[in-house]
Amino acid sequence: MTRVLVLNGPNLGRLGVREPEVYGSATLADLVEQAGAWGAQDGLEVEVRQTDDEATLVGWLHEAVDTGAHVVLNPAAFTHYSYALRDAAAQVTKAGLVLVEVHLSNPYAREEFRHTSVVGGVATGTVAGFGFDSYRLALTAVAQRTRR
Ligand code: DQA
Repeated sequence: MTRVLVLNGPNLGRLGVREPEVYGSATLADLVEQAGAWGAQDGLEVEVRQTDDEATLVGWLHEAVDTGAHVVLNPAAFTHYSYALRDAAAQVTKAGLVLVEVHLSNPYAREEFRHTSVVGGVATGTVAGFGFDSYRLALTAVAQRTRR
């Protein structure tokens, strides 16, 4: 079965209470449930994780490379400045695995510092602005890319 790690960066554990007008009222637990169900429909084995810690996120990307898992990544604020995360994400796509960068909001419609993604250039592609549907679309893209 095709494995996908859905990795979430800092403050995404606060979904539901954090700026619901921007990020919606659903929680990370809701995402775990929905992403698992969407993945199953597409024949994907999905595991959702979240951390506020950059080193942990880098380690999970290394794990994806070492275990051959595709990645859906919401780097959250790390998107905009973490070269360490970019370098780790680059290893995923260089290994021939799919890595989709996702965002709940549309960063290009927000503050200027959010207009730069240091991760986007090494991702397979990016989905942003559709709330939880960004993850659903990203999982569909992984399924289509990996289908023989
Ligand atoms: C985010 C957008 C980022 O700019 C922000 O720092 C986040 C969430 C999103 O999903 O819309 O934490 O990645």
